[in-house]
Amino acid sequence: MSWVITTKTKPIIKPISISYNKLCYDDIDSIVLIEIQNSHNPWSKNQLVESILNLNNLCYSISINNQIIGFLLAMPTIDTADILNISINKDYQGKGYGKKLLHFLIKELKDRMIRQLILEVRVSNQAAISFYLKHSFEKISLRKNYYMINSKHPNQKEDGIIMRLKF
Ligand SMILES: CC(C)(COP(=O)(O)OP(=O)(O)OC[C@H]1O[C@@H](n2cnc3c(N)ncnc32)[C@H](O)[C@@H]1OP(=O)(O)O)[C@@H](O)C(=O)NCCC(=O)NCCS
Repeated sequence: MSWVITTKTKPIIKPISISYNKLCYDDIDSIVLIEIQNSHNPWSKNQLVESILNLNNLCYSISINNQIIGFLLAMPTIDTADILNISINKDYQGKGYGKKLLHFLIKELKDRMIRQLILEVRVSNQAAISFYLKHSFEKISLRKNYYMINSKHPNQKEDGIIMRLKF
């Protein structure tokens, strides 16, 4: 007679650590990849570097287990901040990380007594518009023909929506 001995092993659950960090030059390659993945007209590497190195800007990454999965660039003025860019790695979208990064920014802004966020978004970017509406942004105006649709067709333009959140 032969015996088969089975043992139940407990699944190994790796803890996930989420961190927020100021972006620095060394992060540039990670965020360029996320930007290219997410946009038909991605910011160039130079534009991203310029924004990160601008000491006035607030530029943060969100990481899972020390791997950058998203970033946010904002430009504060006296009582308002503009979101210049926010982008989450496609594999991690729809899982609440954009929301976490936005909330992290809002907390930082409150600490600086800034109570308003403004941004511009393409009318065709319905996912981002839904994301902002979900977070209580309101549409405040329309910029006609503000965005180039594709760099291959520089004359084709689309409108931009300006949105605002007061907190
Ligand atoms: C827009 C973006 C930053 C949102 O980040 P995200 O991590 O995917 O969003 P979250 O998972 O935190 O979503 C929070 C809420 O936003 C809404 N939302 C997010 N993505 C959505 C989508 N594709 N369609 C509809 N609603 C969406 C949902 O209502 C969600 O709430 P729920 O969890 O109750 O469903 C991300 O999708 C992204 O990087 N997009 C590409 C880059 C981009 O367009 N940036 C904006 C430029 S203006």
